[in-house]
Amino acid sequence: KKIVLAYSGGLDTSIMLKWLQEHYQAEIVTFTADLGQGEELEPARKKAEMFGIKDIRIVDLREEFVRDFVFPMFRANALYEGQYLLGTSIARPVIAKHLVDIARETGADAIAHGATGKGNDQVRFELTANALMPGLKVIAPWREWDLRSRTALLSYAEQNQIPIAKDKRGEAPFSVDANLLHTSSEGMVLEDPAVPFPDYVPQRTVDPEKAPDQPEIITIGFEKGDPVSINGEKLSPAALLTKLNELGGKHGIGRLDLVENRFVGMKSRGLYETPGGTILLAAHRGIESITLDRGEAHLKDELMPKYAELIYNGFWYSPEREMLQALIDKSQQYVTGEVTVKLYKGSANVTARTSPYSLYSMDLVTFEEGAVAYDHHDAEGFIRLNGLRLKTWAARNGKAGR
Ligand code: ARG
Ligand code: SIN
Repeated sequence: KKIVLAYSGGLDTSIMLKWLQEHYQAEIVTFTADLGQGEELEPARKKAEMFGIKDIRIVDLREEFVRDFVFPMFRANALYEGQYLLGTSIARPVIAKHLVDIARETGADAIAHGATGKGNDQVRFELTANALMPGLKVIAPWREWDLRSRTALLSYAEQNQIPIAKDKRGEAPFSVDANLLHTSSEGMVLEDPAVPFPDYVPQRTVDPEKAPDQPEIITIGFEKGDPVSINGEKLSPAALLTKLNELGGKHGIGRLDLVENRFVGMKSRGLYETPGGTILLAAHRGIESITLDRGEAHLKDELMPKYAELIYNGFWYSPEREMLQALIDKSQQYVTGEVTVKLYKGSANVTARTSPYSLYSMDLVTFEEGAVAYDHHDAEGFIRLNGLRLKTWAARNGKAGR
């Protein structure tokens, strides 16, 4: 038996590794992805070696993650429940895709992940696996083992000589998931939504009140809906997002304290930090504002909540997400140009936009006389026809005694 495990090198997945070896009598292949979480990954190799793992995969997925998942999602301006930029949700399908690829390559019987039985992540990993390799078994140790408490986990680790970092002996104060797009913190000290998050929770943004007093002005270049440069310098997708994260973090941009509805039915409260993504959303809307026609812009805005919900719920690989993506991508054909954004104490505001494909017509907009295509007299009939039903409605209401 062979199992491919999504392995972070942390305590929980190390316990999982040992448990899978014992419980399934299986040979384990470990897969550790660099998604820009900002942690050293080589220690994961050392640890996996300690468990006698022969096939250890540590893969830098940063470019693929940003280019093939984050940027396509940003073309839609996706926000779940109006606010969440989906930083964890969009990372799950990349990880699961690679687990499946490795399973196929090594002829493994199953893949295994470290998500709990109460969250969204289990759904996202498993739906992705279902969509990419229907026959593949997925193991979720958290739903199977009887290590129900922190104490049970720690004593299992001790019995099996799994090293426990000093700060992991006690109860961790909250759970963190990080990648190039965001850091999410939830659980424990964050669980009560009536209590503000403690100062020690944020990891990659300064408090906006303590951000620099001087604003910083940057220009982001777009091509067909994707950002390609900052201040005229061409950057790869991962390098560009890294740079935006630095800028946003420094100016306290992209903090969100949110109570959301999980797919599995309960609500959850978390603190999200999405510094670069928050700048990118503002900038992308800025370039779209001059390059999209109203019909295109409004249609994609109507579909956006559906698209975001599909990603949140784990349906990145689904026929309907792909249909919506085709529509969104089509709309981005002329979304090319430059946007200037001012970063200042927690805010990212667009101050200027230009495009060789702009639909903004100075001639139509101007208050001076002389616009050719627009005749003021046309407006009279336009309003009269639109007002007709309102007059009818008001008259009826009048008769009914209102
Ligand atoms: N609630 C977020 C989501 O479902 C984040 C989940 C992972 N975060 C964590 N701190 N474990 O996308
Ligand atoms: C987990 O339960 O593993 C993290 C939270 C979530 O998936 O929603």
